[in-house]
Amino acid sequence: MNITELNKRFGSRRIKFSRGKEGFTWVDIQNEFGSARLTLHGAHLTSFIPAGGEEVLFVSRKSLFKPEKAIRGGVPVCWPWFSKHPDPDLPMHGYARVCEWEVASTSSCAEGDGVELRLRPENVPARWKPLPVEVTFQAAVESDGVLRMALCMLNCGKKPVTITSALHTYFAVDNIKNVAVDGLEKAKYTDRLTGKKHSSSSPVTITEETDRVYQNTDADIVLRDGSHTTRILRDGSNSAVVWNPWIEKSKKMADFGDREYRNMICVEAANAFEDGRTLEPGDFHCLGCTIVRD
Ligand code: BG6
Repeated sequence: MNITELNKRFGSRRIKFSRGKEGFTWVDIQNEFGSARLTLHGAHLTSFIPAGGEEVLFVSRKSLFKPEKAIRGGVPVCWPWFSKHPDPDLPMHGYARVCEWEVASTSSCAEGDGVELRLRPENVPARWKPLPVEVTFQAAVESDGVLRMALCMLNCGKKPVTITSALHTYFAVDNIKNVAVDGLEKAKYTDRLTGKKHSSSSPVTITEETDRVYQNTDADIVLRDGSHTTRILRDGSNSAVVWNPWIEKSKKMADFGDREYRNMICVEAANAFEDGRTLEPGDFHCLGCTIVRD
């Protein structure tokens, strides 16, 4: 569907479709509660600004905006697997973030405005071995300046499938040195840099490269960075990932600025590794994440 048709069928005064100069189709939601921007490339949300507030999400100024490449920042949709696939030819963090999605619906009511994007297995390149699972991503800007996201999946096949996933949100922070992440104190985590499991007891602070997968926890998370408090509320999510590449890894990432690690932190609503969900034929599951900037 071209932009005129998308606007005619799904657009409104508060939801608009446009074509970017990189060739992506973008959706802008703007209402009295705030604004959000996402692209059909990867169902990737790149901006959320609560009314009267500041940008909540971080996007690298070196991010690529190219077909089959993931955008560095915003909310990458990691699906239907989190992290590496045993088959090295399959993309890191799944194919959802590098596929072109379609618009399924839009909705508007007094509580807010939202868009629902969809990825059908037949629209995934065959070389990525798509699972017979249909997935939708919903994003809505709602009252009190809340961003609500849900990644919903339906097993349309004849066999059970196990899916790991994450809404890999990059939050913008003023200075990583002032960041504290509360809510994960009672959960155990795997340090992905060493492979070791740990119990944590205090808020997470970032003083070095950090790549932690907290498992078996559905606790609400609070991100504080000195200037802002952001609540990250999860639904249908048993894992949370906290990631900051710090100095050396930043230098190795071609699509990330050398010093940008100071202004971002990823706090991800996930179902990673053993928290993966097995869907029987016909089963449906949603991974939800609501972001509230206090
Ligand atoms: C995190 C992983 O979720 O994503 C890290 O825990 C990984 O190990 C990071 O480095 C970024 O992944 P990518 O594929 O977007 O560079």
